[in-house]
Amino acid sequence: MRMVQASRKRVASLLSCSPEEVVFTSGGSEANNFALKGAFFARGDRPAHIITTQIEHPSILVPCEFLERQGARVTYLPVDAPASSIPMMSVASSPVTPFSLA
Ligand SMILES: Cc1ncc(COP(=O)(O)O)c(C=O)c1O
Repeated sequence: MRMVQASRKRVASLLSCSPEEVVFTSGGSEANNFALKGAFFARGDRPAHIITTQIEHPSILVPCEFLERQGARVTYLPVDAPASSIPMMSVASSPVTPFSLA
């Protein structure tokens, strides 16, 4: 346990944040779930609009579908297959209400 706490402090120092803001997860799927659901449920009364792409990993898409059922608006941007790029016009035309947890 002391090693985890020491590691948390070290990572926090590298990221210039407090140790309480550092969460270790088992991997990408848990981290993605944690970030999406954590941000959604921490937002209070503010409306939620998540912007993602149609080709994300299931650990993004499945929580997004869950959060849609919880009332979040989710925009799944298309991706140009040949260039594997996000059409910038679809980003520009997507209304965004950014919020910060800070
Ligand atoms: C973009 C992306 N997100 C999440 C994951 C899932 O990561 P993990 O296997 O650590 O849960 C992967 C795995 O390939 C990935 O490519």
